[in-house]
Amino acid sequence: MSDVKVNSKSLIDQLRNPDVFYTNFYDIMIKDRHKHGEKSLDSNWISDHFLDSLRIVSGNQPVFNFPATLSKLIYLLYFTRRRLEDTSEIYIFDPCGGWFGRQTGLMAAFCMPTFEEIKVHYHCTDVNTMTAGRPEMLHKFWDFYINSRIGTDFDLYRSFAPAERIFDDKFFQDMIGKYDFAFTSPPYFTNEKYSEDENQSYLLYKTYPEWRDGFLKGMIKNTYDLLKPGAQFWLNIADVNTNKGNQQYYPLQNDSVRLAKECGFEHIDTYYMTQHPFPGNESTKNIIKILEKEKKFEPIFLFQKR
Ligand SMILES: C[S@@+](CC[C@H](N)C(=O)[O-])C[C@H]1O[C@@H](n2cnc3c(N)ncnc32)[C@H](O)[C@@H]1O
Repeated sequence: MSDVKVNSKSLIDQLRNPDVFYTNFYDIMIKDRHKHGEKSLDSNWISDHFLDSLRIVSGNQPVFNFPATLSKLIYLLYFTRRRLEDTSEIYIFDPCGGWFGRQTGLMAAFCMPTFEEIKVHYHCTDVNTMTAGRPEMLHKFWDFYINSRIGTDFDLYRSFAPAERIFDDKFFQDMIGKYDFAFTSPPYFTNEKYSEDENQSYLLYKTYPEWRDGFLKGMIKNTYDLLKPGAQFWLNIADVNTNKGNQQYYPLQNDSVRLAKECGFEHIDTYYMTQHPFPGNESTKNIIKILEKEKKFEPIFLFQKR
């Protein structure tokens, strides 16, 4: 995650930049403004929160893994409401697996009584080869340390096929119309450069219209085709600043809703996922007031296949 380029530099790039690193050495290494403020001035140890400090002094935006706790809650709420009594197995698809925060949340939900008698199939794809083997490691860890049902009743498949060409992977050709639920957080156009892999959407589609029609539309359409009638697709996506020096945004939110409806999805609801405030992170225009306090949020759109 520290290698992901946000606005063309990553935290690792910042570590290698002497201007950022040496000029702010004291703040980064010792002062640890993020967690302890002035109180930690007398500490003589290297901060546990080294990367957070680096982020603050360099003004670099952080990338977030999807919160596993929220993912757990979403899976629990959704499948509790859906009442699983008549079901013995469910199929879940994630077209942009990311750093597997959603998989972790699903494994946590799976350990709760709601899923007691249920077998779960979790199938995801992500083109980032830097995360090769990671979902399998998480799966093994949970099986060994948390709940041995993960090894027997939680089936995992990870693909590297681009979401917009998911059927390049023959595995998915047999899965049309079989999924009960899809949930993802795709790339937000060029905002974050996750890896140099050739199928990263920001490398394949250089302009916003190309990306929208090449990646976003294809990803949504393929997800639609893979779902059963009546199944839902939860999509976390947000508008991003054009970075042209004005407060202009690429309309990822409206375009996603429009493209989903064009495929045949019904837009049934939108949830607001509030975010940790982070200094210098002005990349969003989504602000709501909760108890008089302004909070940044990203929408999660709920679509249902008719
Ligand atoms: C928003 S990020 C993931 C970070 C996110 N917050 C999460 O949920 O973990 C989107 C992911 O999409 C992946 N990605 C980029 N191009 C893709 C493509 N053509 N098909 C599938 N996944 C892609 C990236 O590698 C990245 O892991």
